Amino acid sequence: MDWDTYADNALKSFAEATTAGELAEAHTAWLGRRSELKVGLRNVRDRETGMALNAVRERLEEAFAAREAELERAVLAQLDEQLDVTLPGLPLRRGRLHPLTQIRREVEDIFLGLGYEIVDSREVETVWHNFDALNIAPDHPARTMMDTFYVASARAGTGGSGLVLRTHTSPVQARTMLTRKPPIYVVCPGRVYRTDELDATHTPVFHQVEGLVVDKGITMAHLKGTLDHFARAMFGPEAATRLRPSYFPFTEPSAELDLWFPQARGGARWIEWGGCGMVNPRVLRSCGVDPDLYSGFAFGMGIERTLMFRHGVTDMRDMVEGDVRFTRAFGMEV
Ligand code: DAH
Repeated sequence: MDWDTYADNALKSFAEATTAGELAEAHTAWLGRRSELKVGLRNVRDRETGMALNAVRERLEEAFAAREAELERAVLAQLDEQLDVTLPGLPLRRGRLHPLTQIRREVEDIFLGLGYEIVDSREVETVWHNFDALNIAPDHPARTMMDTFYVASARAGTGGSGLVLRTHTSPVQARTMLTRKPPIYVVCPGRVYRTDELDATHTPVFHQVEGLVVDKGITMAHLKGTLDHFARAMFGPEAATRLRPSYFPFTEPSAELDLWFPQARGGARWIEWGGCGMVNPRVLRSCGVDPDLYSGFAFGMGIERTLMFRHGVTDMRDMVEGDVRFTRAFGMEV
């Protein structure tokens, strides 16, 4: 075998290869396991031939590596020509959380900052938790006032065993007291249901946030201070709250909660924000808390309503229809 001719031919086919594939084929032919060179190397008997063949192998491997690098550079150079890496990238639209989610998280952060826990609960609720445990008697107008969605055949069974889509987040109060021992400091934001038609000011599915505190020596002053802090954190240092005497079966005394909203459209004014009061001792008792030892306060407000007046949203439907243009209009970062 004339190894000089072999080497020349190999070098020529490396040089003629114009793609990585062709070059790999040439490598197999001239330097592969079954190439004449490799077979020759395996059958070498004397030192001199061995050294000569090894020298050829090295020379060819080097030439192969050099050609490989050259081809790679050519590919990159070509890419560079086709690809203007200085062009600005395609704009990627960042998603945003729905404004209701954003405001809910804001509320959660405020109360987490006060040491409260966030609790979650079920949306399909027993009649007992939704009404009875909260001192809402079977014949109490509140049951019809709230326009309840009854689940399956539960309508007849208003005595506590039936199921409803919860009409408010207040049953979470009952569930929390039944499963935890005081001191209790919780807020529960969540979805609630009432048989309203969807229009500019109503939606059958909306959100409330419920607050509940049960501890020794809790007074209405604690309730007022907490609500004032909440109002300032949500609406700025000038915001304040006002309690107007009212009635809820689950609180005694009860109050309507008004918010002094300095940034209101058309000037600062009082806005109805929610309900609150001292947890009715009857509710404490039916949830296994001794009213002689503990007292508590509770409050609840609508999240959609809060969003509407804080951001001047005039139509409820914008909040439920899921048009991303609505979400995009809310500048709050995720
Ligand atoms: N659950 C009431 C509603 O849906 C709101 C409410 C009023 C919640 C007074 C409370 C409260 O916790 O103390 O209208």
